[in-house]
Amino acid sequence: MRNISYDNITETVIRAYSGAENARTKEIVTLLIQRLHDFVREVELKPQEWEAAIGLLTRAAATTDDERNEFILLSDLLGVSGLVDLADGRHDEGASMTTLMGPFYVPGTPELPNGADLTGDNAGDRIVVYGQVRKTDNTPISGAKIEVWQNGPNGLYAVQDPGQPEHNLRGTLCADENGNYMFATAKPISYQVPEDGVGGELVRAFGRHCWRPAHIHVMVTADGSKRHISQIFDINDPYIDEDSVFGVRSDLAVPYDQEPSDEELSRFPNIQQPFNITNVDFVLADG
Ligand code: BEZ
Ligand code: FE
Repeated sequence: MRNISYDNITETVIRAYSGAENARTKEIVTLLIQRLHDFVREVELKPQEWEAAIGLLTRAAATTDDERNEFILLSDLLGVSGLVDLADGRHDEGASMTTLMGPFYVPGTPELPNGADLTGDNAGDRIVVYGQVRKTDNTPISGAKIEVWQNGPNGLYAVQDPGQPEHNLRGTLCADENGNYMFATAKPISYQVPEDGVGGELVRAFGRHCWRPAHIHVMVTADGSKRHISQIFDINDPYIDEDSVFGVRSDLAVPYDQEPSDEELSRFPNIQQPFNITNVDFVLADG
């Protein structure tokens, strides 16, 4: 390997990395090396430019810890998280759209009864979210696990804000025997993804902003079904068409301002009025 040149370095590197035991790992890494090298050739990357890129990744590492991951944010801001999810779901015919998870999911949040009101002491209008979890053949998924999380009235998630109770505006519900679920919560608001790290630097350098339209995160899981990650967006939010992390899907944008019908009012007698209401079903792919 001493005659390495501009013309042979790519094949030399690919050969050096051809020993992976796992065929899929080999496929991914081989193509990654090929495309990275193609990119360097195509843009004629200068040493100072590559050093600047490494510097950006180094600063991302410096702001990454157990509670914050700047690499996930960069992946989200560059649309890679969105693309990975879209690619993964593109053959799930009949299933509801999914979207990215974001960095604020906390596993193992407390179990709440189906129909729980998460509003607590949070300011803001109340909204009831209800619907059915089912398979693509319309079979209800009895007992599906529904994990919910969202931001508080100051735009922050409980994990970002020591001023909020540990599990503020988050919880785990279980759909009933007909796959039906329901919860009430304080309407979330639009917020900015963390902008004090390299994610913010990137966004500002290109004249973009860090805002996300208001949304409620939902993850639905059930035996025999594919993990289903969703967000329920306010269709009337000013940022609905300019989500900084490219997470909005038209099927997931719903009105947050609908008045409940008399029938809905009588179905949810224990929820403090007034409230708005939105109906969202989750159709899970087999998995
Ligand atoms: C979120 O929706 O919680 C989120 C998604 C991507 C980046 C930052 C936050
Ligand atoms: Fe979010």
